[in-house]
Amino acid sequence: MTLSKKATCNSHGQDSSYFLGWEEYEKNPYDQLHNPNGIIQMGLAENQLSFDLLESWLAENPDAASFKRDGQSIFRELALFQDYHGLPAFKNAMVKFMSEIRGNKVKFNPNKLVLTAGATSANETLIFCLAEPGEAVLLPTPYYPGFDRDLKWRTGVEIVPIHCTSSNGYRITGPALEEAYQTAQKRNLKVKGVLVTNPSNPLGITLTRNELNLLVDFIDAKGIHLISDEIYSGTVFDSPSFVSIMEVLVNRNYMNTDVWDRVHIVYSLSKDLGLPGFRVGAIYSNDDMVVAAATKMSSFGLVSSQTQYLLSAMLSDDKFAPNYVVENQKRLKSRHAMLVRGLKSIGISCLKSNAGLFCWVDMRHLLAANTFEAEIDLWKKIVYEVGLNISPGSSCHCDEPGWFRVCFANMSEDTLNQAVQRMKAFLEAGRSVEAGQNQSKSSRRKSFTKWVFRLSFQDRDRER
Ligand SMILES: Cc1ncc(COP(=O)(O)O)c(C=O)c1O
Repeated sequence: MTLSKKATCNSHGQDSSYFLGWEEYEKNPYDQLHNPNGIIQMGLAENQLSFDLLESWLAENPDAASFKRDGQSIFRELALFQDYHGLPAFKNAMVKFMSEIRGNKVKFNPNKLVLTAGATSANETLIFCLAEPGEAVLLPTPYYPGFDRDLKWRTGVEIVPIHCTSSNGYRITGPALEEAYQTAQKRNLKVKGVLVTNPSNPLGITLTRNELNLLVDFIDAKGIHLISDEIYSGTVFDSPSFVSIMEVLVNRNYMNTDVWDRVHIVYSLSKDLGLPGFRVGAIYSNDDMVVAAATKMSSFGLVSSQTQYLLSAMLSDDKFAPNYVVENQKRLKSRHAMLVRGLKSIGISCLKSNAGLFCWVDMRHLLAANTFEAEIDLWKKIVYEVGLNISPGSSCHCDEPGWFRVCFANMSEDTLNQAVQRMKAFLEAGRSVEAGQNQSKSSRRKSFTKWVFRLSFQDRDRER
Protein backbone atom coordinates (compact mmCIF):
# COMPACT_ATOMS: atom_id res chain seq x y z
CA MET A 1 0.00 0.00 0.00
CA THR A 2 1.26 3.52 -0.73
CA LEU A 3 0.46 6.28 1.68
CA SER A 4 -0.10 9.86 0.59
CA LYS A 5 2.84 12.23 0.20
CA LYS A 6 1.57 14.24 3.16
CA ALA A 7 1.53 11.19 5.41
CA THR A 8 5.03 10.06 4.46
CA CYS A 9 6.79 13.41 4.04
CA ASN A 10 9.69 13.54 6.47
CA SER A 11 9.37 17.19 7.54
CA HIS A 12 7.57 15.79 10.60
CA GLY A 13 11.01 15.41 12.20
CA GLN A 14 10.27 12.17 14.03
CA ASP A 15 13.75 10.84 13.19
CA SER A 16 15.33 13.61 15.24
CA SER A 17 17.37 12.54 18.26
CA TYR A 18 14.79 14.44 20.34
CA PHE A 19 12.12 11.85 19.56
CA LEU A 20 14.59 8.93 19.35
CA GLY A 21 15.63 9.61 22.93
CA TRP A 22 12.03 9.27 24.04
CA GLU A 23 11.80 5.90 22.28
CA GLU A 24 14.90 4.68 24.12
CA TYR A 25 13.44 5.87 27.41
CA GLU A 26 10.19 4.02 26.73
CA LYS A 27 12.05 0.75 26.20
CA ASN A 28 13.74 1.03 29.57
CA PRO A 29 12.15 3.65 31.87
CA TYR A 30 13.73 4.35 35.24
CA ASP A 31 11.76 3.49 38.35
CA GLN A 32 13.34 3.96 41.76
CA LEU A 33 12.01 0.60 43.02
CA HIS A 34 11.28 -1.54 39.99
CA ASN A 35 13.90 -0.46 37.45
CA PRO A 36 16.64 1.49 39.25
CA ASN A 37 19.05 1.10 36.32
CA GLY A 38 16.59 2.34 33.73
CA ILE A 39 16.86 5.54 31.71
CA ILE A 40 15.85 8.74 33.52
CA GLN A 41 13.63 10.91 31.32
CA MET A 42 15.13 14.40 31.21
CA GLY A 43 13.98 15.17 27.69
CA LEU A 44 10.37 15.90 28.53
CA ALA A 45 9.31 19.46 29.36
CA GLU A 46 6.57 18.46 31.77
CA ASN A 47 5.69 20.22 34.98
CA GLN A 48 4.83 17.78 37.75
CA LEU A 49 5.89 20.00 40.64
CA SER A 50 2.47 21.34 41.62
CA PHE A 51 0.07 18.46 41.09
CA ASP A 52 -0.75 18.43 44.80
CA LEU A 53 -2.18 21.97 44.47
CA LEU A 54 -4.44 20.90 41.61
CA GLU A 55 -5.45 17.75 43.45
CA SER A 56 -6.40 19.57 46.62
CA TRP A 57 -8.49 22.04 44.61
CA LEU A 58 -10.27 19.08 42.98
CA ALA A 59 -10.92 17.52 46.37
CA GLU A 60 -12.43 20.78 47.63
CA ASN A 61 -14.49 21.31 44.47
CA PRO A 62 -15.91 17.90 43.60
CA ASP A 63 -18.70 19.28 41.37
CA ALA A 64 -16.27 20.56 38.75
CA ALA A 65 -14.94 17.12 37.81
CA SER A 66 -18.18 15.21 38.24
CA PHE A 67 -20.45 16.87 35.70
CA LYS A 68 -22.30 18.90 38.35
CA ARG A 69 -23.29 22.51 38.93
CA ASP A 70 -24.54 23.44 42.42
CA GLY A 71 -24.91 19.73 43.14
CA GLN A 72 -27.13 19.12 40.06
CA SER A 73 -25.99 16.96 37.14
CA ILE A 74 -25.13 18.84 33.93
CA PHE A 75 -23.98 15.67 32.19
CA ARG A 76 -26.39 16.07 29.26
CA GLU A 77 -25.45 19.70 28.74
CA LEU A 78 -21.76 18.80 28.55
CA ALA A 79 -22.24 15.65 26.49
CA LEU A 80 -24.11 17.38 23.66
CA PHE A 81 -22.42 18.95 20.66
CA GLN A 82 -20.65 22.23 21.34
CA ASP A 83 -20.00 24.77 18.64
CA TYR A 84 -16.45 25.81 17.92
CA HIS A 85 -16.66 29.10 19.79
CA GLY A 86 -16.00 27.39 23.11
CA LEU A 87 -17.77 27.85 26.44
CA PRO A 88 -17.98 31.60 27.25
CA ALA A 89 -17.24 30.91 30.91
CA PHE A 90 -14.05 29.12 29.97
CA LYS A 91 -12.85 31.80 27.59
CA ASN A 92 -13.46 34.41 30.29
CA ALA A 93 -11.49 32.32 32.78
CA MET A 94 -8.62 31.81 30.30
CA VAL A 95 -8.18 35.51 29.51
CA LYS A 96 -8.33 36.34 33.20
CA PHE A 97 -5.61 33.77 33.91
CA MET A 98 -3.48 35.06 31.04
CA SER A 99 -3.73 38.60 32.46
CA GLU A 100 -2.86 37.40 35.95
CA ILE A 101 0.30 35.74 34.65
CA ARG A 102 1.29 39.07 33.07
CA GLY A 103 0.82 40.85 36.39
CA ASN A 104 -2.49 42.33 35.08
CA LYS A 105 -0.45 44.75 32.95
CA VAL A 106 -2.39 43.64 29.86
CA LYS A 107 -6.07 42.83 29.52
CA PHE A 108 -7.27 40.26 27.02
CA ASN A 109 -10.65 40.24 25.27
CA PRO A 110 -12.34 36.78 25.27
CA ASN A 111 -13.77 37.50 21.80
CA LYS A 112 -10.27 37.52 20.37
CA LEU A 113 -9.44 34.11 21.82
CA VAL A 114 -9.67 30.88 19.80
CA LEU A 115 -9.51 27.61 21.70
CA THR A 116 -7.38 24.80 20.26
CA ALA A 117 -6.20 21.34 21.27
CA GLY A 118 -2.95 22.56 22.84
CA ALA A 119 -0.34 25.00 21.55
CA THR A 120 0.60 22.41 18.90
CA SER A 121 -2.72 22.96 17.20
CA ALA A 122 -2.64 26.72 17.87
CA ASN A 123 0.72 27.13 16.11
CA GLU A 124 -0.27 25.03 13.12
CA THR A 125 -3.64 26.78 12.79
CA LEU A 126 -2.00 30.20 12.82
CA ILE A 127 0.48 29.14 10.14
CA PHE A 128 -2.39 27.77 8.03
CA CYS A 129 -4.14 31.15 8.40
CA LEU A 130 -1.12 33.32 7.62
CA ALA A 131 1.02 31.54 5.02
CA GLU A 132 0.78 29.61 1.77
CA PRO A 133 2.77 26.41 1.14
CA GLY A 134 6.28 27.39 0.08
CA GLU A 135 6.28 30.63 2.09
CA ALA A 136 8.50 31.05 5.14
CA VAL A 137 8.56 31.93 8.83
CA LEU A 138 11.75 33.02 10.58
CA LEU A 139 12.62 31.33 13.89
CA PRO A 140 15.49 32.12 16.30
CA THR A 141 17.76 29.16 16.98
CA PRO A 142 17.91 27.02 19.01
CA TYR A 143 14.18 26.21 18.85
CA TYR A 144 11.66 23.64 20.14
CA PRO A 145 12.12 20.50 17.98
CA GLY A 146 8.34 20.04 17.67
CA PHE A 147 8.15 23.18 15.50
CA ASP A 148 9.34 21.22 12.44
CA ARG A 149 6.20 19.13 12.81
CA ASP A 150 3.85 21.89 13.93
CA LEU A 151 4.82 24.67 11.51
CA LYS A 152 6.02 22.77 8.43
CA TRP A 153 4.66 19.29 8.12
CA ARG A 154 1.05 19.70 7.02
CA THR A 155 1.18 23.38 6.04
CA GLY A 156 4.08 23.07 3.56
CA VAL A 157 5.59 26.23 5.05
CA GLU A 158 9.38 26.54 5.45
CA ILE A 159 11.31 27.54 8.56
CA VAL A 160 14.30 29.83 8.02
CA PRO A 161 16.57 30.09 11.08
CA ILE A 162 17.56 33.35 12.75
CA HIS A 163 21.01 32.37 13.94
CA CYS A 164 21.56 33.10 17.64
CA THR A 165 24.66 31.93 19.50
CA SER A 166 26.14 31.68 22.97
CA SER A 167 28.52 34.57 22.21
CA ASN A 168 25.82 37.07 23.28
CA GLY A 169 23.70 34.74 25.45
CA TYR A 170 21.56 33.75 22.42
CA ARG A 171 20.02 37.21 22.15
CA ILE A 172 18.19 38.15 18.95
CA THR A 173 19.93 40.98 17.12
CA GLY A 174 18.96 43.25 14.23
CA PRO A 175 21.67 41.89 11.91
CA ALA A 176 20.60 38.28 12.66
CA LEU A 177 16.98 39.12 11.77
CA GLU A 178 18.03 40.85 8.59
CA GLU A 179 20.36 38.01 7.61
CA ALA A 180 17.56 35.43 8.01
CA TYR A 181 15.26 37.61 5.89
CA GLN A 182 17.89 37.88 3.15
CA THR A 183 18.56 34.12 3.27
CA ALA A 184 14.86 33.46 2.70
CA GLN A 185 14.80 35.86 -0.21
CA LYS A 186 17.84 34.21 -1.77
CA ARG A 187 15.95 30.92 -1.54
CA ASN A 188 12.96 32.59 -3.23
CA LEU A 189 10.86 32.17 -0.11
CA LYS A 190 8.39 34.90 0.73
CA VAL A 191 8.70 35.69 4.44
CA LYS A 192 5.30 35.86 6.16
CA GLY A 193 6.41 36.29 9.73
CA VAL A 194 8.67 35.67 12.69
CA LEU A 195 7.83 33.17 15.42
CA VAL A 196 9.45 33.46 18.84
CA THR A 197 8.94 31.54 22.06
CA ASN A 198 8.93 33.81 25.07
CA PRO A 199 10.20 32.45 27.45
CA SER A 200 12.37 30.36 25.18
CA ASN A 201 12.25 26.62 24.84
CA PRO A 202 15.03 25.31 24.99
CA LEU A 203 16.97 28.22 26.57
CA GLY A 204 14.74 28.97 29.57
CA ILE A 205 15.25 32.72 29.16
CA THR A 206 12.75 35.54 28.67
CA LEU A 207 13.06 37.99 25.79
CA THR A 208 14.31 41.42 26.88
CA ARG A 209 12.36 44.62 26.17
CA ASN A 210 15.12 45.50 23.77
CA GLU A 211 14.59 42.28 21.78
CA LEU A 212 10.81 42.74 21.82
CA ASN A 213 11.15 46.31 20.52
CA LEU A 214 13.52 45.09 17.84
CA LEU A 215 11.01 42.45 16.75
CA VAL A 216 8.18 44.98 16.59
CA ASP A 217 10.33 47.36 14.52
CA PHE A 218 11.35 44.52 12.22
CA ILE A 219 7.83 43.23 11.47
CA ASP A 220 6.66 46.82 11.10
CA ALA A 221 9.35 47.58 8.54
CA LYS A 222 8.85 44.35 6.59
CA GLY A 223 5.04 44.28 6.78
CA ILE A 224 5.00 40.74 8.19
CA HIS A 225 3.44 38.90 11.17
CA LEU A 226 4.81 38.10 14.60
CA ILE A 227 3.71 34.99 16.50
CA SER A 228 4.70 34.97 20.14
CA ASP A 229 4.42 31.49 21.66
CA GLU A 230 4.01 32.33 25.35
CA ILE A 231 3.32 28.79 26.53
CA TYR A 232 5.94 29.15 29.32
CA SER A 233 4.81 32.62 30.47
CA GLY A 234 3.71 31.36 33.89
CA THR A 235 7.01 29.59 34.58
CA VAL A 236 9.14 32.73 35.02
CA PHE A 237 10.67 32.11 38.45
CA ASP A 238 13.37 34.75 38.60
CA SER A 239 14.06 38.29 37.47
CA PRO A 240 13.86 39.82 34.93
CA SER A 241 10.10 39.33 34.97
CA PHE A 242 8.08 38.29 31.96
CA VAL A 243 7.18 40.94 29.38
CA SER A 244 4.50 39.95 26.89
CA ILE A 245 4.60 41.26 23.35
CA MET A 246 1.11 42.72 23.97
CA GLU A 247 2.48 44.86 26.80
CA VAL A 248 5.16 46.25 24.47
CA LEU A 249 2.57 47.08 21.79
CA VAL A 250 0.30 48.83 24.29
CA ASN A 251 3.22 50.79 25.81
CA ARG A 252 4.28 51.92 22.35
CA ASN A 253 0.72 52.92 21.41
CA TYR A 254 0.48 50.49 18.55
CA MET A 255 -3.23 49.77 19.24
CA ASN A 256 -4.72 51.37 16.16
CA THR A 257 -2.08 50.37 13.68
CA ASP A 258 -1.81 47.48 11.24
CA VAL A 259 1.09 46.08 13.30
CA TRP A 260 -1.39 45.50 16.15
CA ASP A 261 -3.35 43.20 13.83
CA ARG A 262 -0.24 41.34 12.77
CA VAL A 263 0.82 40.20 16.25
CA HIS A 264 -0.62 36.93 17.57
CA ILE A 265 -0.09 35.07 20.82
CA VAL A 266 -0.12 31.32 21.33
CA TYR A 267 -0.87 29.95 24.77
CA SER A 268 -1.63 26.63 26.44
CA LEU A 269 -2.14 25.13 29.88
CA SER A 270 0.31 22.29 29.17
CA LYS A 271 3.26 23.91 31.00
CA ASP A 272 1.96 26.52 33.45
CA LEU A 273 -0.70 24.20 34.89
CA GLY A 274 1.13 21.00 33.96
CA LEU A 275 -1.83 19.64 31.97
CA PRO A 276 -0.51 18.53 28.54
CA GLY A 277 -2.90 15.58 28.58
CA PHE A 278 -5.96 17.87 28.73
CA ARG A 279 -5.04 19.45 25.37
CA VAL A 280 -5.97 23.04 26.15
CA GLY A 281 -4.45 25.76 24.01
CA ALA A 282 -5.39 29.09 22.51
CA ILE A 283 -4.66 31.65 19.84
CA TYR A 284 -5.07 35.30 20.77
CA SER A 285 -5.19 37.69 17.83
CA ASN A 286 -6.18 41.30 17.34
CA ASP A 287 -7.13 40.61 13.75
CA ASP A 288 -10.84 39.73 13.37
CA MET A 289 -10.18 37.83 10.14
CA VAL A 290 -7.55 35.64 11.80
CA VAL A 291 -9.89 35.02 14.73
CA ALA A 292 -12.75 34.05 12.39
CA ALA A 293 -10.61 31.77 10.17
CA ALA A 294 -8.85 30.13 13.12
CA THR A 295 -12.21 29.55 14.84
CA LYS A 296 -13.48 27.70 11.76
CA MET A 297 -10.28 25.65 11.61
CA SER A 298 -10.47 24.84 15.31
CA SER A 299 -13.15 22.25 14.41
CA PHE A 300 -10.22 19.88 13.85
CA GLY A 301 -8.93 20.24 17.38
CA LEU A 302 -11.53 21.38 19.87
CA VAL A 303 -11.18 21.20 23.64
CA SER A 304 -13.82 18.88 25.12
CA SER A 305 -16.68 20.63 26.97
CA GLN A 306 -16.00 18.53 30.04
CA THR A 307 -12.42 19.87 30.22
CA GLN A 308 -13.59 23.43 29.56
CA TYR A 309 -16.16 23.16 32.33
CA LEU A 310 -13.68 21.81 34.87
CA LEU A 311 -10.99 24.38 34.07
CA SER A 312 -13.37 27.33 33.94
CA ALA A 313 -14.28 26.57 37.55
CA MET A 314 -10.62 26.16 38.54
CA LEU A 315 -9.22 29.23 36.79
CA SER A 316 -12.02 31.56 37.82
CA ASP A 317 -11.42 30.68 41.46
CA ASP A 318 -9.94 34.00 42.64
CA LYS A 319 -8.09 32.41 45.52
CA PHE A 320 -6.71 29.39 43.73
CA ALA A 321 -5.31 30.74 40.45
CA PRO A 322 -2.99 33.53 41.70
CA ASN A 323 -1.74 31.39 44.59
CA TYR A 324 -1.03 28.52 42.25
CA VAL A 325 1.06 30.71 39.93
CA VAL A 326 3.19 32.07 42.80
CA GLU A 327 3.71 28.72 44.51
CA ASN A 328 4.48 26.92 41.24
CA GLN A 329 7.13 29.51 40.36
CA LYS A 330 8.68 29.11 43.80
CA ARG A 331 8.96 25.37 43.32
CA LEU A 332 10.40 25.73 39.82
CA LYS A 333 13.00 28.15 41.13
CA SER A 334 14.18 25.78 43.81
CA ARG A 335 14.26 22.79 41.45
CA HIS A 336 16.16 24.79 38.85
CA ALA A 337 18.70 25.83 41.49
CA MET A 338 19.13 22.21 42.52
CA LEU A 339 20.03 21.11 38.98
CA VAL A 340 22.34 24.09 38.36
CA ARG A 341 24.13 23.47 41.69
CA GLY A 342 24.44 19.73 41.08
CA LEU A 343 25.91 20.20 37.62
CA LYS A 344 28.23 22.96 38.80
CA SER A 345 29.62 20.65 41.48
CA ILE A 346 30.79 18.30 38.72
CA GLY A 347 32.20 21.04 36.52
CA ILE A 348 29.28 21.54 34.15
CA SER A 349 27.72 24.97 33.71
CA CYS A 350 24.34 26.13 32.42
CA LEU A 351 23.21 29.21 30.53
CA LYS A 352 21.91 31.64 33.17
CA SER A 353 18.15 31.31 32.95
CA ASN A 354 15.00 32.56 34.69
CA ALA A 355 12.13 30.48 33.29
CA GLY A 356 10.94 27.19 31.87
CA LEU A 357 11.17 23.58 32.90
CA PHE A 358 14.75 22.95 31.70
CA CYS A 359 18.32 24.18 31.70
CA TRP A 360 20.47 24.78 28.63
CA VAL A 361 23.61 22.90 29.60
CA ASP A 362 27.10 23.54 28.27
CA MET A 363 29.04 20.32 27.66
CA ARG A 364 31.30 21.67 24.94
CA HIS A 365 34.35 20.72 27.02
CA LEU A 366 33.29 17.05 26.91
CA LEU A 367 33.23 16.79 23.13
CA ALA A 368 35.96 14.87 21.34
CA ALA A 369 35.82 17.44 18.55
CA ASN A 370 33.90 20.61 17.89
CA THR A 371 31.40 18.86 15.61
CA PHE A 372 27.78 17.70 15.67
CA GLU A 373 28.99 14.10 15.17
CA ALA A 374 30.91 14.42 18.42
CA GLU A 375 27.81 15.87 20.08
CA ILE A 376 25.75 12.86 19.01
CA ASP A 377 28.55 10.52 20.21
CA LEU A 378 28.43 12.14 23.63
CA TRP A 379 24.62 12.10 23.62
CA LYS A 380 24.61 8.35 22.89
CA LYS A 381 26.98 7.79 25.80
CA ILE A 382 24.70 9.78 28.08
CA VAL A 383 21.59 7.91 26.97
CA TYR A 384 23.00 4.37 26.85
CA GLU A 385 25.81 4.35 29.43
CA VAL A 386 24.76 7.02 31.91
CA GLY A 387 21.05 6.34 31.46
CA LEU A 388 19.80 9.90 31.04
CA ASN A 389 17.61 10.98 28.15
CA ILE A 390 18.54 14.59 27.49
CA SER A 391 18.12 16.50 24.23
CA PRO A 392 21.18 17.35 22.13
CA GLY A 393 21.34 20.94 20.92
CA SER A 394 21.41 19.73 17.31
CA SER A 395 17.84 18.45 17.74
CA CYS A 396 16.90 22.06 18.58
CA HIS A 397 18.80 23.33 15.51
CA CYS A 398 21.48 24.92 17.68
CA ASP A 399 24.35 26.34 15.65
CA GLU A 400 27.13 25.27 18.03
CA PRO A 401 27.85 21.67 19.07
CA GLY A 402 28.01 20.73 22.74
CA TRP A 403 24.83 22.20 24.26
CA PHE A 404 22.06 20.01 25.69
CA ARG A 405 18.58 20.70 27.05
CA VAL A 406 18.04 19.03 30.43
CA CYS A 407 14.53 19.02 31.98
CA PHE A 408 14.10 19.20 35.76
CA ALA A 409 10.38 19.44 36.55
CA ASN A 410 9.08 16.04 35.43
CA MET A 411 10.64 13.98 38.22
CA SER A 412 11.11 13.82 41.99
CA GLU A 413 14.03 15.46 43.81
CA ASP A 414 15.47 11.99 44.47
CA THR A 415 15.44 11.17 40.78
CA LEU A 416 17.11 14.47 39.93
CA ASN A 417 19.84 13.78 42.50
CA GLN A 418 20.24 10.30 41.11
CA ALA A 419 20.70 11.78 37.61
CA VAL A 420 23.43 14.13 38.85
CA GLN A 421 25.15 11.25 40.67
CA ARG A 422 25.16 9.19 37.48
CA MET A 423 26.69 12.08 35.55
CA LYS A 424 29.31 12.48 38.28
CA ALA A 425 30.22 8.78 38.11
CA PHE A 426 30.50 9.03 34.34
CA LEU A 427 32.93 11.94 34.56
CA GLU A 428 34.94 10.28 37.33
CA ALA A 429 35.24 7.06 35.32
CA GLY A 430 36.64 9.15 32.49
CA ARG A 431 39.13 10.79 34.83
CA SER A 432 40.32 7.50 36.28
CA VAL A 433 40.98 6.12 32.81
CA GLU A 434 43.02 9.22 32.27
CA ALA A 435 44.85 8.88 35.62
CA GLY A 436 45.65 5.25 34.79
CA GLN A 437 47.37 6.43 31.71
CA ASN A 438 49.39 8.71 33.97
CA GLN A 439 49.32 11.62 31.64
CA SER A 440 50.42 15.15 32.13
CA LYS A 441 47.97 17.80 33.28
CA SER A 442 47.93 19.59 29.97
CA SER A 443 46.68 16.59 28.06
CA ARG A 444 43.94 15.71 30.57
CA ARG A 445 41.07 17.15 28.68
CA LYS A 446 42.26 15.54 25.49
CA SER A 447 42.48 12.07 26.98
CA PHE A 448 39.08 12.37 28.64
CA THR A 449 37.39 13.34 25.41
CA LYS A 450 39.23 10.55 23.60
CA TRP A 451 37.78 8.18 26.17
CA VAL A 452 34.25 9.40 25.49
CA PHE A 453 34.89 9.10 21.80
CA ARG A 454 36.28 5.56 22.06
CA LEU A 455 33.28 4.39 24.08
CA SER A 456 30.98 5.93 21.49
CA PHE A 457 32.63 3.85 18.82
CA GLN A 458 32.18 0.74 20.95
CA ASP A 459 28.47 1.64 21.08
CA ARG A 460 28.31 1.81 17.35
CA ASP A 461 29.90 -1.64 17.03
CA ARG A 462 27.40 -3.00 19.49
CA GLU A 463 24.53 -1.47 17.56
CA ARG A 464 25.58 -3.09 14.31
C1 LIG B 1 7.42 26.27 22.69
C2 LIG B 1 6.36 25.21 22.66
N1 LIG B 1 5.26 25.41 21.90
C3 LIG B 1 4.30 24.48 21.83
C4 LIG B 1 4.37 23.29 22.53
C5 LIG B 1 3.26 22.30 22.43
O1 LIG B 1 2.44 22.34 23.58
P1 LIG B 1 1.05 21.63 23.75
O2 LIG B 1 1.26 20.46 24.64
O3 LIG B 1 0.16 22.64 24.41
O4 LIG B 1 0.54 21.26 22.41
C6 LIG B 1 5.49 23.05 23.34
C7 LIG B 1 5.61 21.78 24.09
O5 LIG B 1 6.65 21.40 24.56
C8 LIG B 1 6.50 24.04 23.40
O6 LIG B 1 7.60 23.87 24.15
